[in-house]
Amino acid sequence: MVDNAMGPNPVWQAEALAEFLPLEPGMRVLDMGCGTALSSIFLAKEFGVEVWATDLWIRPEENLRRVAEAELEGQVHPVHAEAHGLPYAEEFFDALVSIGAYHYFGTDDLYLGYYARFVKRGGRLGIVLPGPAEEYETLPPPHLAQYWKWDFCAWHSPAWWRRHWEKTGLVTVEVADRLPHGWHDWLRWNDVCDEDRGTPGREEAQMLHADRGRTLGLTRVVARRNTVLATSENPVSPQAPDA
Ligand SMILES: C[S@@+](CC[C@H](N)C(=O)[O-])C[C@H]1O[C@@H](n2cnc3c(N)ncnc32)[C@H](O)[C@@H]1O
Repeated sequence: MVDNAMGPNPVWQAEALAEFLPLEPGMRVLDMGCGTALSSIFLAKEFGVEVWATDLWIRPEENLRRVAEAELEGQVHPVHAEAHGLPYAEEFFDALVSIGAYHYFGTDDLYLGYYARFVKRGGRLGIVLPGPAEEYETLPPPHLAQYWKWDFCAWHSPAWWRRHWEKTGLVTVEVADRLPHGWHDWLRWNDVCDEDRGTPGREEAQMLHADRGRTLGLTRVVARRNTVLATSENPVSPQAPDA
């Protein structure tokens, strides 16, 4: 886990997502931006789902090696793809999950309209990613200024993501919250990885220590794809047969 870490612990985040995104054996799941496929391997082992472990930066050959080591060949499929060019049939998946990755491509207003087509109508989409408790107007909170990087502008609050998705009318958001103790788990995992690599207390850990969850945490969003477009006359569209 430490050797293949790319951010906050993906298994803890996947576990938190599964609290609100029920997974049954045999379901087809897209793990979008899976990185080193740790969450894909976890979901396959824990829930017996079949996972398409899809990523841009990490070579699928590397993920295949990890998948084979976990004895999951045939159940976890490593795929190299860019988020705007997914090689899947529409409505192929029962669920779409994305851990620590969706903000790299999903803040565009129009992206959900592309992405949601890959899950069956009534199926669920879930994301977990870093984010502030609330949106800040322009500049970041002063106590974080010394640590801030420009691309943190893509980190958003639960309320921001709820509106970002619901305004399309394509999905109904069921959960948009901060993971309980998310900042603490993020920091704990960060500390473990820094210690193991012999570089304790790096900048991200310093930032999380300084913040102590006041601003930063992990945002979780789970939604269902609507069967028809939701409008102000029909605010919640009919849901899937199992609703
Ligand atoms: C911080 S890593 C998180 C990886 C993994 N989910 C985890 O939590 O350990 C972000 C991942 O998003 C993926 N990503 C970023 N932009 C992407 C894009 N445009 N298309 C597909 N994947 C993308 C990268 O390949 C990278 O592996």
